[in-house]
Amino acid sequence: MEIRPITKENRFEVNNFIREHWFTTEMAVRGELVDMTGLDGFVAYENARMIGLITYRLDGKDCEIMSLDSLKEKRGIGSALMAMVIRTARELHCEKVKLITTNDNLNAMRFYQKRGFDMARLYRNALESARKLKPEIPLIGDHGIPLRHEIEFEYLLSPQKEQIGIHLPSAERKDAVFAVELQNRHFETEGKS
Ligand SMILES: CC(C)(COP(=O)(O)OP(=O)(O)OC[C@H]1O[C@@H](n2cnc3c(N)ncnc32)[C@H](O)[C@@H]1OP(=O)(O)O)[C@@H](O)C(=O)NCCC(=O)NCCS
Repeated sequence: MEIRPITKENRFEVNNFIREHWFTTEMAVRGELVDMTGLDGFVAYENARMIGLITYRLDGKDCEIMSLDSLKEKRGIGSALMAMVIRTARELHCEKVKLITTNDNLNAMRFYQKRGFDMARLYRNALESARKLKPEIPLIGDHGIPLRHEIEFEYLLSPQKEQIGIHLPSAERKDAVFAVELQNRHFETEGKS
């Protein structure tokens, strides 16, 4: 597996991937429709094929993950992509990394909590207003659970937290492997923050 930043060279492929996995290239979060086609992020490749994608945006001092997808689960791809964004957020002096998931996504809730994220906010019935912006959002989600609420998770990047070591133990080890690719990321992200 190789991880590369989103650049103008792979943007078309990235946008097709987003369209395929999220119905459209617009994401509804907290009552806002976000255009995903210009977001920064990282792509996981295997044999030149995209097998994972993470996208994020900067919101003041927060780094917000807008999407995370792994096409080959339980092989460390999601953790490696997550580690790249956390590392980027630290470099950009963000105070936290946050993200929204929905009440049916039990897999994501397990995944994030085991990687140091904590539930920070509940947006009750947020999917009602999200459906007004994006009618294709289904009524029933994973496991047959009614799709109703948004849950915000956050990962604080405070120095105290790093001192007591509550952070991505396995994923951050992996992120060292991708340090070379990370160096190439700057030409894309500089000036956007
Ligand atoms: C959530 C998601 C991104 C996780 O991606 P992933 O590539 O499976 O993530 P990882 O492989 O790093 O970790 C998943 C599990 O596999 C385990 N794992 C990793 N490598 C493994 C290996 N070689 N053998 C066995 N298990 C392994 C991890 O320990 C982890 O388990 P844990 O969470 O209980 O600790 C993925 O399930 C996904 O794309 N879901 C659909 C989209 C989605 O819901 N995205 C989130 C929206 S908010």
